[in-house]
Amino acid sequence: MAPFQKFREGWVRPALFFGNNPISLAGGAITSAAGVTMIGYWLVELFGRPNDNPYVGIIFFLLLPALFIAGLALIPVGVYVRHRKLQLAGQIPAVYPKIDFNDHRFRHGVDIVLVATVINLLVVSMASYRGAAYMDSPQFCGQSCHVMQPEFTAYKVSAHSHVDCVACHIGAGAASYFRAKVNGTKQLIEVTFDRYPTPIESPVQNLRPARDICEGCHTPARFIGEKLLVKSTFADDEKNTQTQSVVVLHLGGRDSLSHLTGIHGVHLGHIEYVAADSSRTTIPWVQKRNEDGSETEFAVAAAGGSIPQGERRVMDCIDCHNRAAHTFVTPEDALNRAMAEGAVSPELPWIHKEGMELLKANYSSEADAQAKIPEQLSAFYRNGHPEVLAAKADLVKAAGEQLATLYSQNVFPFMKVAWGTHPNHIGHMSYPGCFRCHDGEHASKNGTSITQDCAACHNLLAVDESKPKVLSDLGIQ
Ligand code: HEC
Ligand code: HEC
Ligand code: HEC
Ligand code: HEC
Ligand code: HEC
Repeated sequence: MAPFQKFREGWVRPALFFGNNPISLAGGAITSAAGVTMIGYWLVELFGRPNDNPYVGIIFFLLLPALFIAGLALIPVGVYVRHRKLQLAGQIPAVYPKIDFNDHRFRHGVDIVLVATVINLLVVSMASYRGAAYMDSPQFCGQSCHVMQPEFTAYKVSAHSHVDCVACHIGAGAASYFRAKVNGTKQLIEVTFDRYPTPIESPVQNLRPARDICEGCHTPARFIGEKLLVKSTFADDEKNTQTQSVVVLHLGGRDSLSHLTGIHGVHLGHIEYVAADSSRTTIPWVQKRNEDGSETEFAVAAAGGSIPQGERRVMDCIDCHNRAAHTFVTPEDALNRAMAEGAVSPELPWIHKEGMELLKANYSSEADAQAKIPEQLSAFYRNGHPEVLAAKADLVKAAGEQLATLYSQNVFPFMKVAWGTHPNHIGHMSYPGCFRCHDGEHASKNGTSITQDCAACHNLLAVDESKPKVLSDLGIQ
């Protein structure tokens, strides 16, 4: 017997004979549907617009392959069950039927596989498509995964609440695309088994290059010029005495003569640094490429003249705007702003002092804080200043609720995100920020240092003055 014929008679015919059972047929149909969907997806990845979402990997790298293998596994299971049943009934034929399309039983089996495959294909590909679309939405990234709650909460109230998470969070290029998929899968597994880091680490290594993302909407070289900043501060006395700082920031940009000036003009694209810690807070070494192509190094004395080990990072938007989409504030800033807006009324005596204490206290959970903050504020007035509660019950109630909201926007006990967990690099009052480099300690070989001159960055028109004259001059107050 020719080997081919032997193979056909000894293997193919028995396989088809035993394989003609519902379990194996269903297995075959599942496998082929999963297979076709995967191939379709890979073709789209190769030639079409790939889907950016890291969690889509769950469907295409885990779920579909799992279905594919489960389907394959069902085939021998069905064969085994049928073989065993026929054996027990003594019905195993001496000669296996020929493969014959005229045999209605064989044709029937083929029909079942075809119909089931088509149905399966529709179901599997629809499910994957819907799943992928869902996973692309900020709702999925931010909400279905409670781990993201701090970032999602801050994102919703940020200027960027309409920018998709994936627009900023997936790096460019095939490698980072693939890495994001693997990361996303890893993260879902971590979340499933409760092994995720709390809080989620920052900085994010896998961010799309800032200039790619941000410059899609902002033009950094646009000359913004000067930006006026007015900040109100309330004191801890009975009257919550209000003072204001008025600052003109020299934001600059590219001016009409094409010079790069000011805060925006001088950093982008030509300043590199090495950080000594993972949060990029301690920066011992900075290098600037000058317009003539020469380079100036600035280092702290402790660096000892050598370039420290570590990633050499070219400064971009995120080195200052690290909290553009997820701004967590300090309790001082949160309360001062709420009082300036009137959401927490400055008419309530001692509200600043008492509010700060309530914001900074420890609560076991979010719910605990939501209940206790308003309650304790009422108790404070009930016990110490009942006349205030009698006259301004509404304001006390509103203040209590607003304080609780401020807390819930910034503190997330279950993720170990507290006040100050994620520093903001934009200024220098609450965190090192600009002073990570502009501390007067970063010196070059010829003795200059990165400036700490207040006037290089801003003009201070008023610092903590009550009713600054400049505001009325400007017609603001
Ligand atoms: C406008 C761009 C942008 C958008 C949109 C955005 N992020 Fe971010 N995200 C950032 C930046 C910038 C950081 C901080 C990166 C750094 O410091 O390296 C960050 C950090 C994070 C972190 C790390 C922890 C932390 O707080 O630093 C998580 C988690 C995160 N984002 C989740 C999300 C989710 C979920 C969404 C959508 C609901 C989202 N991001 C939308 C830019 C963005
Ligand atoms: C899809 C468009 C889009 C992208 C991408 C985008 N922004 Fe914005 N951004 C906006 C819009 C629109 C506003 C103004 C919103 C408003 O005033 O309410 C804004 C406001 C801002 C502001 C001023 C308000 C604030 O929060 O202080 C800063 C700073 C800013 N963006 C920085 C960035 C940075 C940094 C990135 C990149 C990580 C970025 N943006 C990416 C659209 C975008
Ligand atoms: C050296 C730090 C630094 C870098 C780098 C930087 N910015 Fe800024 N940017 C600032 C400061 C400071 C402000 C003013 C902050 C404020 O309003 O409180 C600002 C303000 C802005 C604003 C608001 C302008 C307005 O009119 O209110 C936008 C938008 C912005 N930056 C976008 C960007 C983008 C996009 C990049 C990257 C291409 C970038 N910035 C890089 C420091 C920086
Ligand atoms: C990673 C280091 C680093 C950080 C962080 C940084 N800068 Fe700078 N900055 C530099 C270097 C380097 C120069 C160029 C110094 C020189 O040429 O003498 C510079 C120059 C400047 C200048 C021009 C000074 C002059 O005399 O012309 C301004 C203004 C400025 N920075 C503002 C800021 C502000 C505002 C922030 C924070 C939002 C900031 N910088 C954060 C490194 C940094
Ligand atoms: C490298 C740039 C830089 C230098 C140098 C600098 N500042 Fe600032 N400063 C900033 C920026 C940026 C902001 C705005 C922060 C923000 O947007 O919240 C700011 C804000 C302020 C504010 C008002 C904001 C607040 O939160 O109360 C005061 C007051 C201030 N600076 C004082 C000073 C003094 C005094 C000096 C000199 C010893 C100085 N700064 C040096 C960049 C600088």
